[in-house]
Amino acid sequence: MGLISAFTSLAMASAAIAQNCPIQFDGRVPAGSTAASFDATTSPFGTKFIFGQNLTMSKVVQLPAIAGSLFDTNGALPVEVTLSDQSIFAPSATNIQTGFRRAELLPASNNGTDPSTLGLKTLHFSIMKDTARPFNTSHEYQLVFLEDATFSTNQFVLKTGTISGQPAGQDPNLLVLQGNVNAKVVQNLFNTSFTADTWHNFGIVLDFNSNTTQVLYSTNATPLANVTSAVANDISGQGQFHFGALKKPTGDNLTDVTKQGFQESGINEGVIYGGIFEEDSSGGCISLSACAASAANATTATNTTVSSTGRRH
Ligand SMILES: *[C@@H]1O[C@H](CO)[C@@H](O)[C@H](O)[C@H]1NC(C)=O
Ligand SMILES: *[C@@H]1O[C@H](CO)[C@@H](O)[C@H](O)[C@H]1NC(C)=O
Ligand SMILES: *[C@@H]1O[C@H](CO)[C@@H](O)[C@H](O)[C@H]1NC(C)=O
Ligand SMILES: *[C@@H]1O[C@H](CO)[C@@H](O)[C@H](O)[C@H]1NC(C)=O
Ligand SMILES: *[C@@H]1O[C@H](CO)[C@@H](O)[C@H](O)[C@H]1NC(C)=O
Ligand SMILES: *[C@@H]1O[C@H](CO)[C@@H](O)[C@H](O)[C@H]1NC(C)=O
Ligand SMILES: *[C@@H]1O[C@H](CO)[C@@H](O)[C@H](O)[C@H]1NC(C)=O
Ligand SMILES: *[C@@H]1O[C@H](CO)[C@@H](O)[C@H](O)[C@H]1NC(C)=O
Ligand SMILES: *[C@@H]1O[C@H](CO)[C@@H](O)[C@H](O)[C@H]1NC(C)=O
Repeated sequence: MGLISAFTSLAMASAAIAQNCPIQFDGRVPAGSTAASFDATTSPFGTKFIFGQNLTMSKVVQLPAIAGSLFDTNGALPVEVTLSDQSIFAPSATNIQTGFRRAELLPASNNGTDPSTLGLKTLHFSIMKDTARPFNTSHEYQLVFLEDATFSTNQFVLKTGTISGQPAGQDPNLLVLQGNVNAKVVQNLFNTSFTADTWHNFGIVLDFNSNTTQVLYSTNATPLANVTSAVANDISGQGQFHFGALKKPTGDNLTDVTKQGFQESGINEGVIYGGIFEEDSSGGCISLSACAASAANATTATNTTVSSTGRRH
């Protein structure tokens, strides 16, 4: 290789690195954060939604002393959301969702019409059980979902527990990622056992230009790997990403799950998140693991394509 072509490929490599995986939003919780940080405008998440009418975000979150997840670089902290009997969300003074128990984190910049739901994006998050605050798997829980801007569907949703519409007798201890819940036949895109003491890492490639969803998954420190191809799934309608626990009521023939059905009292439940962020994959860039130095730094995120030097982060 001559000097000029060597220079050219170096320049191209730096250009490629410089544009690797720009971050759309970063929900990684900075080292040093406390529960009170979640009430401050500097929080990576909104401070007003979604939690019980008489609560604050700082009363809902806990910062468990466990090791961070795959992408929790720079000392980023796992964050737990908790449910209690007070977790009754009221979207308005007259609309009190007594059927649900809810506690969800929404990225601060994700206002429903922002670019996080346009183009080609990859959503990252890791999830772990809190065995000290177990779920009641007789209920259905929505954990991570995109709710469209008109609040009329979830374009994808990660669920666990006894999931409505699934065959009787299905293991309630699964993480099931479903496609658009308004589809004629709701697709189960991916599932895995919701094992304890394990980080379950997800990458969800959302192609808003072609209505497809692809799932990447790994556990603990293992880099993400494709577990599906890009499958057709209507992800139109923009909206907001939710990370938390939305506990549905039990009961037969409910016509309004937001207000009807049964919720036992005296609950103390929680679920832990790490490594929440979204990157722009329009250049083909999808982070599979964090580079040793700094994955929070977009310029060093792993490029899924083996680089021209043959090196892979
Ligand atoms: C919030 O507190 C008010 C005043 O005590 C009470 O009337 C209301 O029922 C509470 N809301 C919930 C969801 O518990
Ligand atoms: C939502 O965010 C986008 C992009 O940041 C901005 O252009 C838009 O004005 C915001 N919408 C509202 C209702 O704040
Ligand atoms: C779990 O949920 C079921 C259905 O609502 C309820 O009957 C049961 O009492 C709950 N279990 C606990 C431990 O609260
Ligand atoms: C879980 O995934 C396996 C493997 O793809 C599949 O055979 C099974 O039907 C799935 N179960 C559910 C509940 O989606
Ligand atoms: C995605 O599918 C929906 C429903 O069919 C459609 O309205 C929308 O235009 C599609 N979006 C794209 C970008 O094709
Ligand atoms: C994962 O899927 C992407 C997009 O479909 C593809 O480009 C890539 O080659 C796949 N990776 C592997 C290891 O199969
Ligand atoms: C629910 O609906 C089914 C079918 O109509 C009916 O057989 C069943 O008795 C209903 N259950 C209750 C608790 O009303
Ligand atoms: C990424 O790392 C470079 C070099 O260390 C630094 O200059 C830059 O500010 C970092 N960017 C972010 C977003 O952290
Ligand atoms: C990833 O690396 C390959 C090979 O260097 C490059 O062609 C591609 O443009 C890079 N992707 C991005 C998004 O930078």
